[in-house]
Amino acid sequence: MSTESTPLADPSAQDVGIAAAVAARASVGVNFKGVQRHFGDVAALAGLDLEIHPGELIALLGPSGCGKTTALRILGGFDHPDAGQVIVGDRDLTKVPANKRDMGMVFQAYSLFPNMNVRDNVAFGLRMRKQDKTVRGKRADELLALVGLSQTADRYPFQLSGGQQQRVAIARALAIEPTVLLLDEPLSALDAQVRHQLRAEIRSLQLRLGITTLFVTHDQSEALSIADRVGVMHAGRLEQLDTPENIYRHPATAFVAEFVGAMNRLPGRVGDGDEVQVLGQRLKLRNRNERPAGTAVIAMLRPEAIAAVPDSAGSGEVVERTFLGASVRMSVKLDDGQLVLVEEPSHADAASIGQRVGLRILAESTTVADAGE
Ligand SMILES: Nc1ncnc2c1ncn2[C@@H]1O[C@H](COP(=O)(O)OP(=O)(O)OP(=O)(O)O)[C@@H](O)[C@H]1O
Ligand SMILES: [Mg+2]
Repeated sequence: MSTESTPLADPSAQDVGIAAAVAARASVGVNFKGVQRHFGDVAALAGLDLEIHPGELIALLGPSGCGKTTALRILGGFDHPDAGQVIVGDRDLTKVPANKRDMGMVFQAYSLFPNMNVRDNVAFGLRMRKQDKTVRGKRADELLALVGLSQTADRYPFQLSGGQQQRVAIARALAIEPTVLLLDEPLSALDAQVRHQLRAEIRSLQLRLGITTLFVTHDQSEALSIADRVGVMHAGRLEQLDTPENIYRHPATAFVAEFVGAMNRLPGRVGDGDEVQVLGQRLKLRNRNERPAGTAVIAMLRPEAIAAVPDSAGSGEVVERTFLGASVRMSVKLDDGQLVLVEEPSHADAASIGQRVGLRILAESTTVADAGE
């Protein structure tokens, strides 16, 4: 059996001492309070407020440059805020250096020490903490068992696959029995299959250890699938912090709606009650606010909330069609020129390219933005 397919959370490793030691620690909460960090004119963090519950895995998601890594580095103590506080458990760590915080850190790939074998890599943090050599070796071997890599202890990083190297990096981060685990795009250098597998393994190990975790990614499906709650960041601030389902189904702002998943912006008009007319259909309006009846708005609808029904008298034409296996994604051009993205489960009578279709909205409700937004 290849070590690539050995799950991290191997039940036979359940009684491994180090896992028990980490799991026995009470989980701590983390609180960023108004954290600011400027680099010259750039506000990498513009007042970040973020509370992570004990034992929770939060994924920070957002476009390049929005401040994710800066937030993580500040929590790890590798960088310090200009203003605001970082509280971990009941301690204010704002000014405490990295080596005095019990945090395990995993970076993008290739962060192992190339001149040390796997066991010494895992034991590195313990050596820095002046642990006895036999204790270090024993701990390292326990951790390698935990991540399913016992066979590789004497190898060097260049003799491991990318997925194996990241497992070693996780073992190294856990070796110091951290109170918080920090991961910065740990899977982004891996190919899709290994990435999906290791994602599931990290989550199951994290749940088993109950370790409070901050996981940074710009991959939305990774964030939605791994986290208890997802924090969507934009320009140094949190736009929304919520469960993956709420982030996807009830985005709080237009930015979140468009950043997470594909989104159609369709013209609509507010009706008398809490309703809006879109594509000739009436939907419940989630955020009417103070908008009077007749206000022109933009309705946000996911591609899977719309069906394209073949109809020679329909109001659009399929101009693009991608077969994705379980689903079919289509671009439908309406007679007024508007393009609408539709994603349907694949079935035999799905519309084909060039075909006339009518659009039917499957969602019962929608969020709207003001027409100028
Ligand atoms: N040491 C630094 N010196 C100057 N500017 C910096 C420094 N570190 C970060 N920045 C700037 O701060 C902003 C936030 O950077 P950060 O690395 O936190 O972004 P990120 O969300 O992690 O992006 P990515 O997804 O590309 O990794 C960026 O504009 C970046 O250029
Ligand atoms: Mg980054």
